Amino acid sequence: MSNLFLKNITKEFVDDNGEKIIALNKVSLTVNSGELIAIVGPSGSGKSTFLSIAGALLQPTTGQIKINETDISRFNEQELSRLRLQEIGFILQSSNLVPYLNVLEQLLLVKQLQGKVTAADKQQAQELLTELGLADKLKNFPSDLSGGQKQRVAIGRALMNDPSVILADEPTASLDTKKAHEVVQLLVNETKKTSKGRDYGHS
Ligand SMILES: Nc1ncnc2c1ncn2[C@@H]1O[C@H](COP(=O)(O)OP(=O)(O)OP(=O)(O)O)[C@@H](O)[C@H]1O
Ligand SMILES: [Mg+2]
Repeated sequence: MSNLFLKNITKEFVDDNGEKIIALNKVSLTVNSGELIAIVGPSGSGKSTFLSIAGALLQPTTGQIKINETDISRFNEQELSRLRLQEIGFILQSSNLVPYLNVLEQLLLVKQLQGKVTAADKQQAQELLTELGLADKLKNFPSDLSGGQKQRVAIGRALMNDPSVILADEPTASLDTKKAHEVVQLLVNETKKTSKGRDYGHS
């Protein structure tokens, strides 16, 4: 089964001078369960645009997107937002942690947005964070964490809702070689463990 199916995706922007920019020109990609894919290309080649479209954050100008065999092209904002919450895990370049939530709360926020936080959710979050080597940082705030630790929290958060697809936009960009290697290894392990489709943008 393909978790993610994109066909002939085109995205056009209009810049400040009114000039048309073709950021994506008929790009197609299928990601099957358990696959890990890196998208490589120079700056400005459209990687972030592509990931945003794959993650239903941005509408393509033309093209078809299916997530878990469901065509999302005609989804309204509410349906898209539910899909993002339930099926997609995002890891952004800057981690995007909430400054006033501690590490444990960053992960529980996902559950809070879906409804209620249960004891089982707390346990799941603690287990994930332990696996990510953050067991002693549960009560720390993002300002107390290193770049690599923040990135691992962001990975934990992306895994909290057991998403069908994980999209990571340059998850190792702010890390040194050793930490970058650790983060990639973590993502590889998670992909193998859950056998779900994983998709990573990288430059
Ligand atoms: N909202 C926007 N409005 C206008 N142009 C945009 C917009 N977003 C992206 N672009 C343009 O689309 C092209 C692709 O941008 P994108 O951010 O996808 O590249 P990228 O491959 O992620 O680059 P980088 O490696 O620097 O992150 C660029 O020419 C960019 O200027
Ligand atoms: Mg980018």
